[in-house]
This record gives sequence, structure tokens and C-alpha cells, in this order.
Amino acid sequence: MGSRPVKDASLSDALVHLGRGNPVSGRSVNLPIDQSSTLLFDTLAEFEAARAGRYQHGTLYYGRYGNPVSFALERMMATLEGGSGCVSVTAGLTAVTLALMGAAKAGDHVLVADNVYGPTRGFCDSVLTRYGVEVAYFDPMVGEGLAELMQPNTAAVMFEAPGSGTFEVPDIPAIAGVARAHGAVSILDGTWATPVFCQPLTLGVDVVVHSGSKYICGHADAMIGFIVCNEARYAQMRKMALDIGDKAGAQDVFLALRGLRTLEMRMRHAQDAGMTVARWLAEQPQSLKMLHPAFPDCPGHALWQRDFSGAAGLFSVVFKPCSDAQLHAFVDALEMFSVGVSWGGFESLVLPVKPHRTAKPWTEEGRVVRFSIGNENVENLIDDLSRALKHLD
Ligand SMILES: Cc1ncc(COP(=O)(O)O)c(C=O)c1O
Repeated sequence: MGSRPVKDASLSDALVHLGRGNPVSGRSVNLPIDQSSTLLFDTLAEFEAARAGRYQHGTLYYGRYGNPVSFALERMMATLEGGSGCVSVTAGLTAVTLALMGAAKAGDHVLVADNVYGPTRGFCDSVLTRYGVEVAYFDPMVGEGLAELMQPNTAAVMFEAPGSGTFEVPDIPAIAGVARAHGAVSILDGTWATPVFCQPLTLGVDVVVHSGSKYICGHADAMIGFIVCNEARYAQMRKMALDIGDKAGAQDVFLALRGLRTLEMRMRHAQDAGMTVARWLAEQPQSLKMLHPAFPDCPGHALWQRDFSGAAGLFSVVFKPCSDAQLHAFVDALEMFSVGVSWGGFESLVLPVKPHRTAKPWTEEGRVVRFSIGNENVENLIDDLSRALKHLD
């Protein structure tokens, strides 16, 4: 396992205590669901001061700009990531899109890793380009070679660690360093690792985005996103989110705060259960290759060892080539894995993946299938897989 910047003991304490020191909490353990929209002022002078400071974290002006509970959650996320500030938004995809919009303007050029989450690519291709931003894709394993792709107008470098569906681990400090040297904003989607297993801002990244809908909320019943920034980029990102008018919902803010309390132990379980299932899958005759950062043949495995302190329970397997009918029969035969696009909840999920690449062709032969390992009994999960895998023979 790689080294982690926050010691386990202090992380555990942080997950219990951060974000609770708010006067509105009274004597309850948890902060309430704060539904407020209109906030009231006793004097016009107080109102005017609030309006003048509305872009600042902690200023109570109007519900869309934040309330005591969303501010507490944002402070907590910023602290866990080692950042200067955080904006909580409607969903993980919103965090991605707002961060890109906060970084780039018409006439700019943006570099995006070839293995990003599909809708991130979709936003870049269909929205950013429509607003006059040029988008180019790069091989996520490029490392310092990214410098050759930088242009004078490159405003942002967007990447994921590890990549969606295929789990290559990029050289985070190298890519962030190249971006910074060229004055571009580095934006990393850190949803897989959560701040428990990696803190990209401490590795030189400017902005880390998260889908809190995954492990952070952890129960497949909330949608929320986070944009966590270093000092240099915080004001610009916060202003973009507030100007667009986005705001995480009150109930989702509550669920994220609650989910964070148990995040560390859930991540440790996800790692242990995920590794047990992955090790078993790796030995099956139907498996060609594991796409899992903790496996030596995964591109960037050594970088994962260097920069991460653990592995989430989401990974893919390249199975031997088979027919569509066989693939369907395998997935449909699974009784403990449901088909679903999200992950990071308590339930196990399975999803065939078709890697879409434009910078460097995807050359693995075989069928890529992604698994999210939940909290079920691991032996039962393996028995289930063992039965279903016969359809791939
Ligand atoms: C890596 C990654 N980033 C972002 C998102 C988007 O998050 P949300 O579903 O909260 O919009 C997802 C969703 O699957 C994801 O896998």
C-alpha cells in the first residue's frame, strides 16, 4: 500500500468531529436538514453586508448561496482533502462541468484524459465545444509527456485517478505539475478513492471533484457533488457554481454529512471485500486480465502504490472474448449482483463496459465487465460468480 498524508488515527477523529461544530446543532449529534431558502435580516445594513459578501463561504444571504449545514459539509470536505475550500453541488457530474466551466472560456483549449467518465466526455464534446472551447484527449499514462500537448491557450487539464471503467492510474503529480507550469487548472475526479485513500490536492492538483453520490453518501439514495480547491482556484470555482445557480439539495447535504461519519470503515470494507473477490476472479479460466489498481499488471500500479493508501471496491475484469448472448447469460445469471450504472453503495453491482478511446486505441481483446463489491457475504458473492461464469465457457 502507498503512504497516506493523513495518519489513520487523525482521519478517524476527523470523520467523527469535523463539520459538527455549528451553533444550530444544539445538543443533537447530527446537524439537521436545513431547508431554508429566504434568510431574514433585522436591518438593511445587515442585508447589504450579506449581499456584498454572498460569494464568500459562510456568508448567510439566501439559501441558494449556502446555509449553516451546507457550509459545515463544505468545510469538512475541504479539510479532509487538505484544500482551501469546497462548493457542494447537485451531483458529481455537476461538479465536473462547473469545474471545467470555471476554468475555461471561449477560445481556450482543454485537455481531457481519454479514460474519463463517459458523461464528462459527453459534456466536453457537446457543451464545451458549443461554447467555443477546443477539447483534445490524451493518453492518461502520458505523465510528463503531457507538456508536449500543452498549447498557449490550454486552460484546463481534466483527468481521473483511476480512470472510469478501465482503472489506469495516472501520474498525478506529473500531470498536475505540467498543468501548473503552463498556467492551466488541473482538475482531478477523485471519486473512486475518496479522501480516505487519496488526497490529490496534496499531490499538486488544483481542483478535485467528487461524486458524493457514490461512497461518500454510500447508500445509493442521494445525489451530490463536490468541488474542492486549493487557495488559488477556490474563489473562481465558487463564483462559477453560484453564478450558474447550482446548489446541493438540503436532504443530500444531510446524507453526505451522515455518510462521511462511516466513510473510512466502509472504504476499508470495500477494499477488503473487493480484493477478495478480485483475487478470486483473477484465477478463473474465463479471466484474461484484472483492471484493478492493486494488481501489478494494471497500468499505473506503481503510481497507485506511491500515491494511494488503499483501493476501493470498484474494478473491472477483461474476460476472454465471448458472444453477446454469453455475456447477457453471465450477467443475467448473477443473483447477488444487480445491473446498474452507479457504484459505491452497500449493494453489489455489475456492468459490462465498452471503453471509448480517441487518443490511443483500446487494444485489449475480450469483454470488460465492471464490478462494484458491496457489503454482502463475500463467499456468497464468489459462489454466485462461480455459477454464472460457466456461461462464459
Ligand atoms: C468517476 C465518476 N465521476 C462522476 C460521476 C457522476 O456522478 P453523479 O452520478 O453524482 O452525477 C460518476 C458517476 O457514475 C463517476 O463514476
